[in-house]
Amino acid sequence: ERSYTLTLLPGDGIGPEVVAVAKEVLSLTGSLEGIKFHFIEMPVGGSALDAVGVPLPDETLNTAKNSDAVLLGAIGGYKWDKNEKHLKPETGLLQLRDGLGVYANIRPAVVLPQLVDASTLKKEVAERVNLVIVRELTGGIYFGKPRGFGTNDNNEDIGFNTEKYSASEIDRIGRVGFEVARKRNGKLCSVDKANVLEASMLWRQRITMLASEYPDVELSHMYVDNAAMQLIRDPKQFDTIVTNNIFGDILSDEASMLTGSIGMLPSASIGESGPGLFEPIHGSAPDIAGQDKANPLATVLSAAMLLKYGLGEESAAKRIETAVIETLNRGFRTGDIFSSGTTLVGCKRMGEEVLKCVDSLMPAS
Ligand code: NAD
Ligand code: IPM
Ligand code: MN
Repeated sequence: ERSYTLTLLPGDGIGPEVVAVAKEVLSLTGSLEGIKFHFIEMPVGGSALDAVGVPLPDETLNTAKNSDAVLLGAIGGYKWDKNEKHLKPETGLLQLRDGLGVYANIRPAVVLPQLVDASTLKKEVAERVNLVIVRELTGGIYFGKPRGFGTNDNNEDIGFNTEKYSASEIDRIGRVGFEVARKRNGKLCSVDKANVLEASMLWRQRITMLASEYPDVELSHMYVDNAAMQLIRDPKQFDTIVTNNIFGDILSDEASMLTGSIGMLPSASIGESGPGLFEPIHGSAPDIAGQDKANPLATVLSAAMLLKYGLGEESAAKRIETAVIETLNRGFRTGDIFSSGTTLVGCKRMGEEVLKCVDSLMPAS
């Protein structure tokens, strides 16, 4: 029997609700696939601020570093929005990504046939969309220095940040983009703002240079404003997108609406070595927290990515993905993906239905 230690970071808002579902799905899948999971739950974000006064306690980071993979729910909430920067839940999440060195964030957006009607786009536009955004996660304007608050010559308050990328930072995320594209349709679109920003000019130059190492991948470049428009106009033109930290953040939320809901999109964050970090792309959804309304599928699918990319447990990952699709086939929907003719359920019930499907499926291979 294989055995792994997983750090669970439920976080805030709907985080604990969706992570509880994913934990049960992992346990049952493990027991059916001959895998034993040892779960360690640790605080992060607002819940860590309330418990110990910092958004990423050393113990949480150390536990995460010493485990085989990390599953995070979400962080943040109104209660901490006015905190100073170093005491914001979001700062804890950025410290975690940085501390684990997970620079490559893989965010797939797949429109399932079962959910075409949940998309706000026309069926012809949304159906069969299947793309991946490879987002740089530990650099760019999120981390660049100088940053801070100050005053200008007129003694007016200013806030400032720096978008900065080194050649090696661009190269390593670029390579992930090419590798991901190579395993898919062989089409890579690099998204930047090279008509205006120096950091993007270097980005485009380095990505163009890398292309000679990947003759089987067809590389194109697009400005981010156009990319935001093209994602809605004709999303099927995209296969793999590689982009910087902030553009990837924004474009992945946009891409989630092609699929019907942000409550469906998982992500995997990987570094050079050490455990990966797996999290849904959505936030803590304070507007629905504690009401059993959250869609847990983004987190359940993140658990599947954890098995596949974090542990190499492909059969177990496949079992979870198939169970999610079967649950949708059986007509169960949380409010965010509900359409007429389907069965409206809450977060817990959705989890129970996924468990039934996990249980009834044969191992994938
Ligand atoms: P959000 O993603 O939390 O919510 C946006 C909207 O989507 C809300 O209407 C919410 O109800 C809905 N939604 C999100 N996830 C859902 C799910 N699983 N099921 C059903 N509906 C869902 O974004 P926001 O409102 O901009 O941010 C709220 C808080 O979350 C902020 O504090 C923000 O900083 C934080 N945040 C955290 C993460 C993260 O932990 N990775 C990501 C984004 C935002
Ligand atoms: C995400 C979130 C985070 C980000 C915030 C909460 C720091 O929006 O994971 O997409 O901007 O990366
Ligand atoms: Mn985001």
